[in-house]
Amino acid sequence: MDKLVVEGGCKLNGNVCVSGAKNACLPILAAVLLTDDECVISNVPDLKDVTTMLKILGALGRRVEREGAVVRVSAGSVTNVTAAYELVSTMRASIAVLGPLVAKYGRAKVSFPGGCVIGPRPIDLHLKGLRALGAEIKVQEGYILAEVKRLKGKRIYLGGHFGSSVLATANTLMAAVLAEGKTIIENAACEPEISDLINFLILMGAEISGNGTPTLKINGVLKLKGAEYSVIPDRVETGTYMIAAAATGGCVFIENAKPEHNAALIDKLLEAGVVVKEHSGGVEVCRGKDRLNAVDITTLTYPGFPTDLQAQMMSLTSVSNGISVITEKIYPERFIHISELNRMGANILLEGATAIIKGVRSLSGAPVMASDLRASAALVIAALVAEGKTEISRIYHLDRGYEHLEEKLSGLGARVKRIDG
Ligand code: EPZ
Repeated sequence: MDKLVVEGGCKLNGNVCVSGAKNACLPILAAVLLTDDECVISNVPDLKDVTTMLKILGALGRRVEREGAVVRVSAGSVTNVTAAYELVSTMRASIAVLGPLVAKYGRAKVSFPGGCVIGPRPIDLHLKGLRALGAEIKVQEGYILAEVKRLKGKRIYLGGHFGSSVLATANTLMAAVLAEGKTIIENAACEPEISDLINFLILMGAEISGNGTPTLKINGVLKLKGAEYSVIPDRVETGTYMIAAAATGGCVFIENAKPEHNAALIDKLLEAGVVVKEHSGGVEVCRGKDRLNAVDITTLTYPGFPTDLQAQMMSLTSVSNGISVITEKIYPERFIHISELNRMGANILLEGATAIIKGVRSLSGAPVMASDLRASAALVIAALVAEGKTEISRIYHLDRGYEHLEEKLSGLGARVKRIDG
């Protein structure tokens, strides 16, 4: 298994270009199933999760070609409606094919995605949305079986214990666009990735209003057409480089970034004493002072502070001046990085879903293990800051969400290399 070896103590400096958003691209690729026409999606990042989604489309019978950041799904119909365990078990976002399949073909068989290292990840809201639209759903031998003649529009309240759900909103929305009549989704997720999906669906001929708000109104249509679409830049990758620049004390310009998608992060970085300059073509981040201030963070649904940047901010606050408090309100168990950061000399205590971080002057390199995608990014940031060498194992997690990570970091002056381990 590959390892990442990082020699710490280097300030990141220079320009880095952000890739297309993984979490926008995955449901958009699933939405292609809603039409038999050709679709061309560009700004598609070269990531393991994207490859998995393309394999799923292929296994369903669609012809997929990829050239650089452009994916072409040829005109044609699916030849079967089963998304098998072997693929779905490697990526939870595979569940996004459920809505499109049942809407277009009236049948779907999708493996139940199961648990995850960041905590329980139920799918009750996905099923609630589809059932409300009239789908008969049962779970059998580890598969979700959905069937319906034609979905029917309905008013649906899609909130759960932790608020709105990104992929349940995507699934319900993708089902509703081909349903008969009008659907209203209340408490819809407002994440930019959902807005991006809506823009793509509208281009395909869907009738949706309320984009960017928690109330989506959809007039079902009989048929959607093919479309060409470019995916938005990745706000989590952007945020990760912003935090890495601030943590290492350098000055980095992140090209193509949309700072308006990272307002909550920018607010916290400014509070910490980081200098952030927003430009139309990207965002520039420089460390404003020798030691940054401690900050308190609570993760929330958009536009609140994203859970996907919680771990990276924990690395930054590990070496800030004072005590920071980070509370996780989306995935209360998403703290697996704490023990690894403490191995590197951080002083972090976990109390329920709240981490108390007593800032230390420095971290020291150590062998550590990556556990999930964003926790892995947090370890990379800690390794860049630390004195000495850090060896991060199980970095396949990083390949799921960060395109060309070593190349991009090396371009900013980091001493980082991948070795076969
Ligand atoms: C999306 O996952 C992202 N994945 C996640 O990114 C991200 O962490 C998450 O949204 C939250 O922002 C993709 O977009 C592919 P949710 P999703 O449903 O949609 C609960 C990353 O690192 N919930 O919005 O699966 C759930 O347990 C990843 O890139 C229910 O209770 O997340 C959580 O507490 C990991 N019932 C909350 O809602 C449901 O049916 C929000 O989860 C569904 C979710």
